[in-house]
Amino acid sequence: MSILVTGGTGFIGSHTVVELQNAGYDVVVIDNLSNSSEKCLKRVEEITGKPVKFYKLDIRDREGLEELFNKESIESCIHFAGLKAVGESTQKPWEYYENNISGTLILVDVMRKHGVKNLIFSSSSTVYGDPDSVPVTEETPKKWCTNPYGSTKSMQETIFTDIQKADPEWNIVLLRYFNPIGAHPSGKIGEDPNGIPLNLLPYITQVAVGKRPFLNVYGNDYPTPDGTGIRDYIHVVDLAIGHVKALDRIKAKCGLAVYNLGTGKGYSVLEIVKNFEEASGVKIPYEICPRRPGDIAENYSDPSKALREMGWKAERGIKEMCADSWNWQKNNPDGYGA
Ligand code: NAD
Ligand code: WQD
Repeated sequence: MSILVTGGTGFIGSHTVVELQNAGYDVVVIDNLSNSSEKCLKRVEEITGKPVKFYKLDIRDREGLEELFNKESIESCIHFAGLKAVGESTQKPWEYYENNISGTLILVDVMRKHGVKNLIFSSSSTVYGDPDSVPVTEETPKKWCTNPYGSTKSMQETIFTDIQKADPEWNIVLLRYFNPIGAHPSGKIGEDPNGIPLNLLPYITQVAVGKRPFLNVYGNDYPTPDGTGIRDYIHVVDLAIGHVKALDRIKAKCGLAVYNLGTGKGYSVLEIVKNFEEASGVKIPYEICPRRPGDIAENYSDPSKALREMGWKAERGIKEMCADSWNWQKNNPDGYGA
């Protein structure tokens, strides 16, 4: 029996494939390669010493999925595949709803037709919107999302909740990630954004490697100690291990379960710059700019439910996250394109 990983050539998916293989699972990866490179799977194989079965397949391709489920023996699915750029989603809402929502509905339909009713879903802290207080627990009310990307995550959670309620044979774990950064310590796999990075760490690493002259710090007038935005950054390897732990919840027939995956500690933009400089030995010039529309002042998790119920907690600190992000970027200045 294998674990199906959709979006398994992406940033979080590829790190999760490594941890699944390390834990002894057989893995089947599907991805349409719209935001990733197949090359990363060679790197995964170098890290684990095990081959990865890969199908270039779109989750909206019902016939392709049918064929796959007829051929492979799948016990559970970890569903990463989706479009994820917040800004782009405001320009292309139809594409985001069609890819993320239609794709998920087709995947789930094919799964249930083949009697596979175990699923782990990549949700996001974005479903909390601008929370009234921090840290956020899983009981913190969800809020209306300010962008179509966030709405697709929130809607997918609702779809999964309703499906599990109607058919209790389903076991579904919704994992709400905070801000994943870092890379595998080998430096062989990491985040490889297309074009200008939108997220903080990939932008900083591109400044460090000389691809961009300076970092734009979006606002220093937030109600935080240094005025810059605070987030809960989590090492992608810790996040990946969270998925392996979630499979144990599936095996224990958890029904529907929701977990925050974060460290529980927030860092400001300027604290990240300082930690990155210390970890890399490279100076990061920055300029203070206006706030980025849609940004919030502060968000960080209460991850205690994941510890209580899954025995999972983030082990890697901010220095390690920065050092591993830098190690990846330094060794692969052009990502997988090199
Ligand atoms: P990513 O873009 O690196 O990975 C997503 C993968 O899905 C890509 O390889 C892409 O080619 C693939 N994909 C997209 N649409 C597809 C389709 N229709 N069929 C098949 N493959 C498709 O992104 P990531 O950072 O690894 O994120 C993985 C998941 O986690 C996404 O669902 C994302 O929304 C979610 N998430 C990410 C973050 C983050 O900050 N990176 C935070 C919270 C949640
Ligand atoms: C972090 C902080 C910025 C870039 C996004 C998505 C969210 C989730 C994670 C998927 C903020 C500041 C950033 C830059 C900066 N993804 N910043 N200069 O916005 O917390 O979350 O990724 O689900 O849905 O919205 O992450 O890395 O973009 O920003 O000053 O060039 O860094 O203002 O305070 P964010 P981020």
